Amino acid sequence: MGAGKSTVGPRLAARLGRSFVDTDLEVERRAGQSVAEIFAREGEARFRALERESIEASAGQPLVVALGGGAIAQPGALERCRALGVLVQLDVPLERLLERIGDAASRPLLAGLDAAGRRGRLAALLESRRRFYERAHVRVDGSAEPDVVVEQIRARLVGLEDPTGGKSAVAEEIPEVPDGGRGGQGSKRSGMGTGRTGVRSKSKSKPVGGRKGDAGALASVAVSLADRSYSIELGHDWLETIGQRVGSLLGAEKVAIVSVAPVARRYAPQLARGLAKAGVRAGRIVVPDGDASKNLRELGRLYERFLDQGLDRHAAVVALGGGVVGDLAGFAAASFLRGIPFVQVPTTVLAMVDASIGGKTGVNLPRGKNLVGAFHQPRGVFIDTATLSSLPRRERAAGVAELVKAAAIWDAELFDWLEQHIEAFLDLEPEILLHGLERACAIKAEVVARDEREGGLRRLLNFGHTLGHAIEKHARYRGLLHGEAVSIGMVFAAERSEALGFSPAGTALRLASLLERAGLPTSPPDRPRKAYLAAIGVDKKRQGAGIHFVVLKGVGRAGTVSLRPEEILPAGWRAGR
Ligand SMILES: NC(=O)c1ccc[n+]([C@@H]2O[C@H](COP(=O)([O-])OP(=O)(O)OC[C@H]3O[C@@H](n4cnc5c(N)ncnc54)[C@H](O)[C@@H]3O)[C@@H](O)[C@H]2O)c1
Ligand SMILES: [Zn+2]
Repeated sequence: MGAGKSTVGPRLAARLGRSFVDTDLEVERRAGQSVAEIFAREGEARFRALERESIEASAGQPLVVALGGGAIAQPGALERCRALGVLVQLDVPLERLLERIGDAASRPLLAGLDAAGRRGRLAALLESRRRFYERAHVRVDGSAEPDVVVEQIRARLVGLEDPTGGKSAVAEEIPEVPDGGRGGQGSKRSGMGTGRTGVRSKSKSKPVGGRKGDAGALASVAVSLADRSYSIELGHDWLETIGQRVGSLLGAEKVAIVSVAPVARRYAPQLARGLAKAGVRAGRIVVPDGDASKNLRELGRLYERFLDQGLDRHAAVVALGGGVVGDLAGFAAASFLRGIPFVQVPTTVLAMVDASIGGKTGVNLPRGKNLVGAFHQPRGVFIDTATLSSLPRRERAAGVAELVKAAAIWDAELFDWLEQHIEAFLDLEPEILLHGLERACAIKAEVVARDEREGGLRRLLNFGHTLGHAIEKHARYRGLLHGEAVSIGMVFAAERSEALGFSPAGTALRLASLLERAGLPTSPPDRPRKAYLAAIGVDKKRQGAGIHFVVLKGVGRAGTVSLRPEEILPAGWRAGR
């Protein structure tokens, strides 16, 4: 106590782009009383139990956690904490501690003692805990100025193995973010905006071998959204471990695994086994397959099932499946009892790189897709690449369309890489699969972190979606897959970008040939311009007369322009031409 955890912790968190959790405050929140009151009324054992829960609740998230001084001296706690993260000790001499603590009115372990008594007690505590503190991964001089301490810690973290995943604890410099900061409401751009900042993966993955059964995450990407931050964990054949991780992450007594039949049959049992190992009871709810079931009626049924299974405010939802399950179950979680936590376990390429990240949830209305919904960030996204082996190739390709989209709007290098590896990716070659998914997740995470609520930057992700949604609407959500419609929409948008003078000639062709190699369609179904115009007109992204239309400014760069539907589809334009 007095080492400076609550001063240094938040600053370190800010420096690392993570959120900060103080387990003492977390305990107080859970108990609804102060630490001193818990000690006085319920005793230290009760406090330690609550403390343990708070520590477990932080597992698997990109956080900086301040542990109470006695936390790691509890039975088994040292090893557990060393496994959960990098353990840092702030070393401060006894005299400085005494100065900082002062009369210690709020420190239960020193309550009622005079100066000499406090000195004796603190010395004894330090002595008895020393052997635990000595096992910290990193020890720094905590008597320096807080900002100096922060830099000391940071310097020590760079390149250090993260005990939880084998990746570097601090992979790289946190990139500077223009336009008012990470996670802000984004730039109020109008007209052309460009999203290029040279984002590289924040999560340089270092595969740890891909052992079966006991495998952990092979890569991880942080989604930095202040207190809604979470991480995307990627691994291979690790569903049971995911279950365990999700169990301790959510700290819920009950969860409902929502899925569709073909996915639930194959993957829910492993997930449920892992959850059971973490002491969580998991009920299964199977919803009908297909985008057409992402509707209000299914939503209503889902609430009923939640109630049948006794889900309350302490329960949580696990969405296991593609984007349809993620959107539907996510929206149910967002709205049930005014919102309960949820976790995404995406099992399609599209859901892995796009739908599961960013907290957009919702359902379709007869008049349009995704017209009702909410922003509700998941507590974590857990990807098992092995689940893709059962995904039909056509579905894989549809997901690859969103991966190509990410590269096209944001990352020319990834686009080049896809031009070399797209077939291997579709064939699920492990290293290629992991790299492509991780890069695409990192792009989506970056865009979302900088513009959570679609103020500007996030609109770039709608590249190809203006026409794509119009096509889907005409197909009445059947016939064409979302990614296929987007593939067509992207080529269209790239052609328009060239015609409008935003991108060099040849960009659309390069895009089209990459998509075609994945077996994706690239030209719109033959329908009259009038029909497309009408469909674009009710697109929810329409604002006033103009629609935010995403144009390419070459491969790897995009921006938005405000265009009227008639400008997007100029007179004389004809589908199927
Ligand atoms: N929330 C967002 O930000 C966001 C972003 C993009 C798309 N979406 C939404 O996502 C949906 C499309 O998602 P999708 O393409 O994943 O479709 P989907 O969820 O319908 O899944 C596609 C098909 O694959 C099956 N499937 C899923 N995983 C499987 C596996 N591992 N093995 C075998 N079969 C499997 C499903 O049962 C389904 O039939 C759309 O509703 C779209 O609006 C949402
Ligand atoms: Zn999409």
